[in-house]
Amino acid sequence: MNILRIICSPRGRASESYRLSQTVVDQLLAAAPSAAVVDMDATSLPLVDTDYAATLSARQDPTDGRQNRGTLGRSSDLIQSLQDATHIVIATPMHNFTVPASLKTWIDHVVRVRSTFQITARGKEGSLQDRPVYVAISSGGDFGGGADSQPDFLTPYLRHVLGTIGLRNVTFFSVQGTARGADALHEARARAQSEIAAHPFAAGPHPELAAA
Ligand SMILES: Cc1cc2nc3c(=O)[nH]c(=O)nc-3n(C[C@H](O)[C@H](O)[C@H](O)COP(=O)(O)O)c2cc1C
Repeated sequence: MNILRIICSPRGRASESYRLSQTVVDQLLAAAPSAAVVDMDATSLPLVDTDYAATLSARQDPTDGRQNRGTLGRSSDLIQSLQDATHIVIATPMHNFTVPASLKTWIDHVVRVRSTFQITARGKEGSLQDRPVYVAISSGGDFGGGADSQPDFLTPYLRHVLGTIGLRNVTFFSVQGTARGADALHEARARAQSEIAAHPFAAGPHPELAAA
């Protein structure tokens, strides 16, 4: 098992989303103790550059060396690390009702025409082999649909964009209401922990994980 974790909070390893993602990673490691964990800090990614933007709107990729330079080269490396992973964990806060800029930047690098998806008569079709993706979200308020809940442009967007490249096996866990004080945070953490504990990967080597 190869676990790729994408860290998206400006607070890095001190963040709530990283803390939650670690619970997921620990469950995966319990199922497969020899698994490798590769951490990728999305907050240090550059925005996509001119050659990248031109290439994605062109009919074919460059063959004159530009394909290995700048963010085209970086994108290829990030796509390779996605292909190498058997399990993907995304640790992300909610920023302004959706994904933070760091996660959107990673998405811009890996959702790439002629590479991770193809344009067909049926629309965009993902090229990546499906594999489990676990998303660990932290948010200051609630987005779960209750009376005082805020709009959620994060989970539907991520589900759609990951599905575009072939990743349809996506599970969300969240610690919501981190801005509501210590007691609320404690409760939110406990709720998320029990959801993770109840997930099939916690029950021992899942057939899918054992095969990876
Ligand atoms: C730029 C910015 C925008 C934010 N927007 C939202 C938001 O729309 N909804 C929300 O519930 N919390 C929002 N928050 C609060 C964070 O989601 C919250 O503090 C979260 O627990 C941070 O997680 P982290 O420790 O993983 O970074 C925002 C925080 C920042 C810095």
